[in-house]
Amino acid sequence: MLNGRKIVVGVTGGIAAYKAAELVSRLRQDGAAVPVVLTDAAQEFIRPLVFEALTGQDVFTGLFGGRKPLPHITLASESDLLVIYPATANVIGQAACGLAPDLLTTLLLAFKGPVIFCPAMNSKMYENPALQENIRRLEDRGYIIISPETGRLACGETGAGRLAPVTTVLETIRGVLAPKDFKGFNFLVTAGPTREHLDPVRYITNRSSGKMGYAIARAARDRGARVVLVSGPTSLEKPAGISCIDINTALEMREAVLSHFDASDVVIMCAAVSDYRPADLSTHKIKKGNAELTVKFTLNPDILVELGSHKRQQILVGFAAETEKVLDHARTKLQAKNLDLIVANDIGRKGAGFESDTNVVGLVFRDGRFIELPMMDKFLVAHRLLDVILDLRQNDK
Ligand code: PMT
Repeated sequence: MLNGRKIVVGVTGGIAAYKAAELVSRLRQDGAAVPVVLTDAAQEFIRPLVFEALTGQDVFTGLFGGRKPLPHITLASESDLLVIYPATANVIGQAACGLAPDLLTTLLLAFKGPVIFCPAMNSKMYENPALQENIRRLEDRGYIIISPETGRLACGETGAGRLAPVTTVLETIRGVLAPKDFKGFNFLVTAGPTREHLDPVRYITNRSSGKMGYAIARAARDRGARVVLVSGPTSLEKPAGISCIDINTALEMREAVLSHFDASDVVIMCAAVSDYRPADLSTHKIKKGNAELTVKFTLNPDILVELGSHKRQQILVGFAAETEKVLDHARTKLQAKNLDLIVANDIGRKGAGFESDTNVVGLVFRDGRFIELPMMDKFLVAHRLLDVILDLRQNDK
């Protein structure tokens, strides 16, 4: 996703400095060129050799003595983004005051692109009013701050100050650098399972963690779209900048989806909607008896069929989770639900389907075209899906 991008990773002197190696490695795997700048204090915690091995390039350690003169100016003019991971109280304070005692802070003054600070320190330092004021000053200037997590700290105390995970930083970087090619578009995305209650303590449901649908919603947001996410119960954190509607049952999902359908340009039904619900909802817990229990189920409305029959300007995308004859079933659903595109999800394959962070899908188009995607992170699947939706939209014009 970051092919051809140049991302400077600035590492400052904290115990979490070793985690920068993982960030640099992941950025390289994503295709980015990654110059690394180490402060003097950072070198007390991690050797330049680690980053030289990961990037195949010299590491920048100072304003003077390197192979190129004026490294702060060349790095500033050639790079797309600067991330400081971890950012100590010292570098945050220097940046807030516009001080430039070393290469990293000098680069910061010369750099015009997006800058991300990832503070990490002892919780008392982090909560100190001076530090908090400095962070606010950086935010006011448009810098992005990825707040530290709360947990056990290196000093043995527990509190806020743990460096944000690499995955969070990567997602932020991808979001900042993503093309804003869906600006002005309204997306409606569904995710997760529905729960169909039998009594106050029991329900039937479908397997779905919500990861695929949330990844689509986040990718669309990053590319400039306004996104409404209708989600069944999941353990995922609500994504920032997205209008989230929580539902439980298929009937609730139908109501939420229909109320946003008319205003939507793109609708992606990724949710695993239960096809049936218990015909009767018992108000009390059903007591165990000695005999078998037979439960009668009634059919839930098929939300996508309903959308397909009302669709006007919307691009309508469905998912098909299948265990056999995947393409045949996907094509049948595409026709029956009047979709523009269906994502065929062979859930029997390794690295595909429910709960995992990756997926293996094929994209089946209305005109018969089929694009098979290799196993990839669900966030990347989401971006590939958005790429083809953009093509469909442009071909419509
Ligand atoms: O959430 P994860 O753990 O990341 O897993 C993702 C996923 C595997 C759940 C997802 O990628 C997926 O494949 N979702 C569709 C699941 C499914 O079983 O679809 P289906 O074949 O039952 O339905 C086909 C399409 O009709 C789907 O777009 C579905 O949202 C929609 N549908 C289904 C039934 C119904 N009553 N109303 C609907 O709108």
